[in-house]
Amino acid sequence: MPVSALPSILDLTKQLVRAAVGSGATVIDATVGNGHDTLFLAELVGPSGRVFGFDVQESALMHARERLATAGVAERVTLFHAGHHTLLHCLPAACIGTVRAAMFNLGYLPGSDKQVVTVPETTIAALDAVLGVLAPGGIVTVHVYTGHAGGMEEALRVQQWCDALDWAAFRAIRYGWCNKERNSEALVVVERLQGSTVHERKQETVDA
Ligand SMILES: C[S@@+](CC[C@H](N)C(=O)[O-])C[C@H]1O[C@@H](n2cnc3c(N)ncnc32)[C@H](O)[C@@H]1O
Repeated sequence: MPVSALPSILDLTKQLVRAAVGSGATVIDATVGNGHDTLFLAELVGPSGRVFGFDVQESALMHARERLATAGVAERVTLFHAGHHTLLHCLPAACIGTVRAAMFNLGYLPGSDKQVVTVPETTIAALDAVLGVLAPGGIVTVHVYTGHAGGMEEALRVQQWCDALDWAAFRAIRYGWCNKERNSEALVVVERLQGSTVHERKQETVDA
């Protein structure tokens, strides 16, 4: 089997999140699924940190709860059985401007119902919302997939959303494979600049 020295999209995501998040930080897992990324975040922030997680699939959240409990980190994680676009309603007001990282792993949960998939309307609403809680120096990572029905459209909508971000307040960058033809994927990262002021963005209205 050929071996690559290049980091996978997931490895790269974790590398960037590690650089932005310290012990005691507040972070968000916007697509908890079975909780792999939630566990990564919970270990990163340590006992004095806080992780808020969202998913629309209760069965996935059950697996995530088990994973977090087994690792002994459950008490530092709050899981919401809710769409990520509701995050401003779910998070304590004290979180505004304090979130060091928010991870979005879009698409469907492998091994579960492929009909339950992130969709552009709520993804963009959640991304808009997350900018309102991000700390200066905080980052948003968005792992996009184009291989499933609707994936390409969602990736394009995320790209357009990034294109419209104010350069004075944010940097947005995209990392992706050049020659992966099937089931391609990419990582989009948005950083809120230190010292930046975030003007309130008009959030798309989406049913909760
Ligand atoms: C690629 S999976 C995430 C994998 C996960 N990070 C893990 O470690 O297992 C995408 C997840 O997004 C969830 N999802 C779909 N629509 C959502 C929404 N509007 N809000 C929050 N989660 C959503 C799906 O239920 C699925 O679990």
